[in-house]
Amino acid sequence: MQQFTMNNGLTIPSIGYGVFQMSGNEVREHLPEAIQAGYRHIDTANAYFNEVAVGEAVKASGINREELFITTKLFPQSYPYEQCGIDVDASLERLGMDYVDLMLFHQPYGDYVSGWKSMEEAVKAGKVKSIGLSNFPMHKIQEILDIADIKPAVLQVEINPYWNQHELKSQLEGTGIVFEGWYPLGHGDRKLLEEPTFTELADKYGKTNMQIILRWHLQEDNVTFPKTLNAQHMRDNLDIFDFELDTDEMNAIDNLPQNPYYQVPEEPPVFVLTHNDYSQQV
Ligand SMILES: NC(=O)c1ccc[n+]([C@@H]2O[C@H](COP(=O)([O-])OP(=O)(O)OC[C@H]3O[C@@H](n4cnc5c(N)ncnc54)[C@H](OP(=O)(O)O)[C@@H]3O)[C@@H](O)[C@H]2O)c1
Repeated sequence: MQQFTMNNGLTIPSIGYGVFQMSGNEVREHLPEAIQAGYRHIDTANAYFNEVAVGEAVKASGINREELFITTKLFPQSYPYEQCGIDVDASLERLGMDYVDLMLFHQPYGDYVSGWKSMEEAVKAGKVKSIGLSNFPMHKIQEILDIADIKPAVLQVEINPYWNQHELKSQLEGTGIVFEGWYPLGHGDRKLLEEPTFTELADKYGKTNMQIILRWHLQEDNVTFPKTLNAQHMRDNLDIFDFELDTDEMNAIDNLPQNPYYQVPEEPPVFVLTHNDYSQQV
């Protein structure tokens, strides 16, 4: 498994398994299959309400903790400085772990500036190895960079061939921030998955369209965690390390029309404000 190196010197596996919109029981059923298929990087969040199930599946796998890379995320209700420390501990307790490899601020709302200091303390206390942001636009990332003793190691945003984030990447050049792409396969959008550009390349390399897309991500230095409940797809999504797209092929993909699936609003949408009872975890 190819790894990327973050700006703190630690490494992150280029592909993981995402458990967004999976119930606790789905995680209990499918995460063991993913670990069996070779995934060692798992992406969850307190707002996915499945940290308990992730922790159970990891423990049951018998894989050494050091061989795994576990990410979770805090929602804005957790950001104020005092609350942040409490909620870092609560996630660790639900996961049944002494530390996570990566903790992200999930949404760009609320008191993320005071919370960042608490995240830095969690790093110093060994509870979190790396910290980062998700869905933050440039001007809010800058607010964090301005006060950070520990810079964000990772930025998790929507990235796929229809929204390649080249502009944000160029704005953050020099920070060493590793990009992670959510909706790496467009959340399963058939239009994206069946783009003729991918079909042509899939025929050439003897791969599937999805593998071509994931290979593009890899060569764009994007960490991805495609979600699938299908064990064959889990294996396919890891099988992208034995071929390489050339410059013209990368350019053809980069030239696809650009439109995000989701526009992150400047102000918090209602679900962010109401989505706050993390004790109801399964
Ligand atoms: N930070 C954030 O705000 C945020 C937001 C959204 C997502 N995420 C993260 O990103 C992860 C991935 O996003 P996502 O789950 O929404 O979308 P995604 O990974 O882009 O797409 C998932 C869809 O692709 C299909 N798929 C996966 N592998 C396939 C394959 N090899 N062949 C055919 N179809 C395949 C799946 O169907 P099958 O089950 O049939 O394979 C599913 O319908 C999440 O789990 C989460 O960890 C983060």
